[in-house]
Amino acid sequence: MQNTEKYILSQQERYLETFFEFLRIPSVSADPKYKQDLADAASWLEKHLSDLGFQAETIATKGNPLVYAQTPVVPGGKTILVYGHYDVQPPDPLNLWKTPPFEPTIRDGNVYARGATDDKGQFLTHVFAVEAYMKHANPPKVQIKFLFEGEEESIGSVSLTEYLESEENRKKLACDCVVVSDSSMFGENQPAITYGLRGILAFELFITGPNRDLHSGDFGGTVFNPGIALMKMLSGLIDENGTILVPHIYDDVCEITDQEKTELQKLPFNEREFFRKIGLDEGFGEKGFTTLQRRWCRPTFDINGITCGYQGEGSKTVIPNTASAKFSFRLVPNQRTEKVIENIRKRLLELLPPGVQMRLKYEHGAPGMRSPLDSPYIQKAATALENVFGTPPVFARQGGSIPIVAELRDKLGAEVLLLGWGQDDDNLHAPNEKFSLLNFQRGMLASAQLLHLLGAEK
Ligand code: BES
Ligand code: ZN
Repeated sequence: MQNTEKYILSQQERYLETFFEFLRIPSVSADPKYKQDLADAASWLEKHLSDLGFQAETIATKGNPLVYAQTPVVPGGKTILVYGHYDVQPPDPLNLWKTPPFEPTIRDGNVYARGATDDKGQFLTHVFAVEAYMKHANPPKVQIKFLFEGEEESIGSVSLTEYLESEENRKKLACDCVVVSDSSMFGENQPAITYGLRGILAFELFITGPNRDLHSGDFGGTVFNPGIALMKMLSGLIDENGTILVPHIYDDVCEITDQEKTELQKLPFNEREFFRKIGLDEGFGEKGFTTLQRRWCRPTFDINGITCGYQGEGSKTVIPNTASAKFSFRLVPNQRTEKVIENIRKRLLELLPPGVQMRLKYEHGAPGMRSPLDSPYIQKAATALENVFGTPPVFARQGGSIPIVAELRDKLGAEVLLLGWGQDDDNLHAPNEKFSLLNFQRGMLASAQLLHLLGAEK
């Protein structure tokens, strides 16, 4: 282990340069204009993995390519599948970035760039750890497979889901445990093992009214303004107590057990600090639940963007003929996506005022997931984290979604380990995304430790 560790520490400069090179590729999956950049990011990864001597390939799909690589088979040993996503969120709004999103820059111990924490930096820690492990574990006692995709941030991993439908492909990915670093630590120096993620349903709603924009003096008061219709409909989805107003949405939600409530209560969560960091004196959420319960264990509704009418300089007195909004719901384990989608549609139709039409476009979705805490992999990961971070990890659920994780677990019959190296204030999906250099290094060391601990069993 010592040699692996020493090697990792001696290679930090080169690892950082490689990380920067990867961050410079603007692999934004939501916007088709970056299609070539996604292909470039995939081939960059394939090349990097094959330069390390791993058997690597790019797998074409109907969407963005998958990148797969593996180290040699270890008869009788464990197999780990490292999953990550090389696609990133759109960098907008660009004017709020202190330095350009695709020109990685170091400031106060952090790398600033789109994709730094979500997820390029996080999954590269495993690539670098495996490089070190393969060089120094003689002979390697664990086989490592890598699977990287480019659709996590936009359409919820459609191509990878399709890929998993074939038995031959599932055989190729067969493993004992899937390791994912695409979440966060519990605090600056507090590592976490994540045992649950929320699911998601994303939509776009289009409202249309008259067949053209109208003068708001000439026509105001005679037609239903599509912007007002949209606002009324959206506000009909949630009340002032933060309760979602979609029929049956809470029916299948598991009650938080007393034991889990106690566990959550014990976590070193500083609520004031949590809100202070995002510039708020107080939060808001579903009545009767704590902030952590709201974040991790309850379904929620959010508007992600609204488009309507004139948004240029000055004012323009117009009744726009259309209005639209992108919105999403977070789901928790046990809620069924199809049932919730149907009830959302029904509710919106109920809320639709006269004189306008609606079209609801369902974008993508995935159910919530939760995994048991008593697996031997969790034990090993806890030891690895404690050795590197100097503190035992806490067990946490998280509010974000990684749509493919539950599928990988179920279709491959493997355990999952969600080991996040990010921080809550890493600005993921926002301007000035960052990733701590210290956690970049600690992630590599913890990953290498884990491989050694898993190999020690053989
Ligand atoms: N890394 C995040 C998921 C995440 C965020 C986990 C915070 C834990 C804490 C992931 O890349 C992500 O953003 N997923 C999307 C999925 C969606 C677009 C299908 C999400 O959660 O919005
Ligand atoms: Zn993300």
